[in-house]
Amino acid sequence: MKKLIYSFVLFVGVLALVITGCKGPEGPAGPAGADGTNGTNGTDGTNGVDGNEVCLTCHTLANKTLVTTMYNLSGHAAGLYVGYAGGRQSCAMCHSDQGFVETQYTGADTTAFDIANPQPIQCGTCHDFHATFDFDGDGPDYALRTNSPVEMIFDGSTVDFGGSGNLCANCHQTRRAGPVPGSGNFTITSTHWGPHHGPQANLLDGVGFFEVVGSMTYPTSKTTHRIDANCATCHMHFDAADETEGGHTWWPSVASCVPCHPGATDFDINGVQTEIEGLLDDIKTEMIAIGLYDDAAGHVVTGTYTAEQAGAYFNWIGIEEDRSAGVHNYPYIKALLTNTLESF
Ligand code: HEC
Ligand code: HEC
Ligand code: HEC
Ligand code: HEC
Ligand code: HEC
Ligand code: HEC
Repeated sequence: MKKLIYSFVLFVGVLALVITGCKGPEGPAGPAGADGTNGTNGTDGTNGVDGNEVCLTCHTLANKTLVTTMYNLSGHAAGLYVGYAGGRQSCAMCHSDQGFVETQYTGADTTAFDIANPQPIQCGTCHDFHATFDFDGDGPDYALRTNSPVEMIFDGSTVDFGGSGNLCANCHQTRRAGPVPGSGNFTITSTHWGPHHGPQANLLDGVGFFEVVGSMTYPTSKTTHRIDANCATCHMHFDAADETEGGHTWWPSVASCVPCHPGATDFDINGVQTEIEGLLDDIKTEMIAIGLYDDAAGHVVTGTYTAEQAGAYFNWIGIEEDRSAGVHNYPYIKALLTNTLESF
C-alpha cells in the first residue's frame, strides 16, 4: 500500500514537471534576412496656401508707396481748411484728423476743446484696426475706422449706404435743415447761411433739401448710383493706367462709369451736367433779379424772404457746392432745380 502511494506521488510529481514545462534556454538568433524591395512612392499632396498670402494683396511696400503717392494728390491731404476749421470745436469733427478720431470715440458732434495743432485727414483718420481676418467669410476688410450707418446732422435720421460710403457720409453731409415749404417768412441772418459745403451724401440719398412743389415729382425710390454704386465705386476706382485719379486721390474717373455706362468718354453723360449747369445759371439770374444774391460778393444777401425764396437759395448753393452737376442723383437734383425755378 505504502509503495502504491509512493508511486502515485511520484507520478503526480513527474506530471507536474511535464505540465509546467521544462523548456531549455533559446538558441542565438539566426542572421537577418535580405531587405525586401521598396514600395512605390506615394503621390505629392497639393501645396498649402502661404500663411500671409492674403495679407500681401494689400500689405506690400510697393502698394503702400502707391497709395501714399496717390493720397498726396488729394484734397484730403491738401487740407486747405484744416488751419481755418480743423481746430474749432464745432468744425473739427470733419476738418481734422484729431477731431474725427475723437468724435468717433465719443459720438459727440463737437470736440471737447479746441484743438491746438490740427492735422489734415490722413491714413489713421479713416483706418484703424481690422474687424476680422476671415476675409473669405466676412468679405474684404480695409481696417476702416467706421462703416456704421450714419446719423444725419440736419434731422437726426439714419442713413445706411452699406460699407465704406458710410465713412464718407459722416463728413460729406449738410449741417443745417432748410426752411419748410409754405411756412411763411424766413429770415437769413448770415451771409454764410446754407446747408454747408459738402452735401454729397444728402443728394445721393435724396434727403434734406427744399422740396418745393412744382411740375416735377420727387423720386420715391433710391437711384442706382446710391444702391449699386457708392462713393468709393466712382471716387476710388483704381486703374493702373492712370494713377492721378481714382484710388486714394478720390478724384472720380471716367473709367469707373464705363462698366455701367459703356462708351462713356466724360462725366457729361446724356448731357446731364450741361443741363444741370444751365438750370443753376437760370436760378442765379432770378435770385440776382430779386436782390437775394450778391453776385459780385459771391454770397446771399441777409434779410427776410418768403420760405420759397430762402429755399431757392438753399437748393441753389447746396447743388452748386455738391459739384457733381447732377451726377450724384439726377432725378432728385433735376426735380429740385426745375421746381425751384418755377417758384420764382
Ligand atoms: C473726416 C471727414 C471726412 C471723411 C471721412 C471724408 N472726407 Fe472727403 N473731404 C473732407 C473735407 C473737409 C474735404 C475738403 C478738403 C479739406 O479741406 O481737407 C474733403 C474733400 C474731398 C474731396 C475733394 C474735394 C475738393 O474739391 O478738394 C473728395 C472728392 C472727397 N473728399 C471724397 C471723399 C470720399 C469718397 C470719402 C469716403 C471714402 C471721403 N471724402 C471721406 C472730409 C472728409
Ligand atoms: C459734418 C461735417 C462738417 C462740419 C461739422 C464742418 N464742415 Fe466745413 N466742410 C465739410 C466738407 C466735407 C467740406 C468739403 C466739401 C467739398 O470739398 O465738396 C467742407 C468745406 C468747408 C470749407 C471750404 C469751402 C469752399 O468754398 O471750398 C470751409 C471754409 C469750411 N468747410 C468751413 C467750416 C467751418 C468754419 C465749420 C465749423 C463752423 C465747418 N466747416 C464744419 C464738412 C464739414
Ligand atoms: C478718407 C478716408 C481714407 C484715408 C484718408 C485713407 N484711406 Fe485707405 N481706404 C479708404 C477706403 C474707403 C478704402 C476701401 C476702398 C474700397 O472700398 O475699394 C481704403 C483702402 C485702402 C487700402 C486697400 C486697397 C488698396 O488700394 O490697396 C490700403 C492699402 C489703404 N487704404 C491704405 C491707406 C494709406 C496708407 C493711407 C494714408 C496714406 C490711407 N489708406 C488713407 C479710406 C481712406
Ligand atoms: C483688402 C486689403 C487688406 C488685406 C487683405 C489685409 N489688410 Fe491689414 N490693413 C489694411 C489697411 C487698409 C490697413 C490700415 C492702413 C495701413 O495700416 O496701411 C491695415 C492695417 C493692418 C494692421 C494694423 C491695424 C490692426 O488691425 O492691428 C495690421 C496688424 C494688419 N493690417 C494685418 C493684416 C494681416 C495679418 C492680414 C492678413 C491676414 C491683413 N492685414 C490683410 C488692408 C488690408
Ligand atoms: C455715380 C458715381 C458717383 C457716386 C456714387 C458719387 N460720386 Fe461724387 N462725384 C462724381 C462725379 C462724376 C463728380 C463730378 C466731377 C466733375 O465733374 O469734375 C463728383 C463730385 C464730387 C465731389 C466734388 C469734387 C470735385 O471734383 O470738385 C465730392 C466732394 C464728391 N463727389 C463726394 C462724393 C461722396 C462723399 C459720395 C458718396 C456719398 C459720392 N461723391 C458719390 C461721381 C460720383
Ligand atoms: C453701378 C452702375 C453705375 C455706375 C458705376 C455709374 N452709373 Fe450712372 N447710372 C446708372 C444707372 C442704372 C442709371 C439710370 C438711372 C437709375 O437707375 O438710377 C444711371 C444714370 C446716370 C445719369 C443720369 C442720366 C441718365 O442717362 O439717366 C448720369 C448723368 C450718370 N448716370 C452718370 C454717371 C457717371 C458720370 C458715372 C461715373 C463717375 C456713373 N454714372 C457711374 C448706373 C451706374
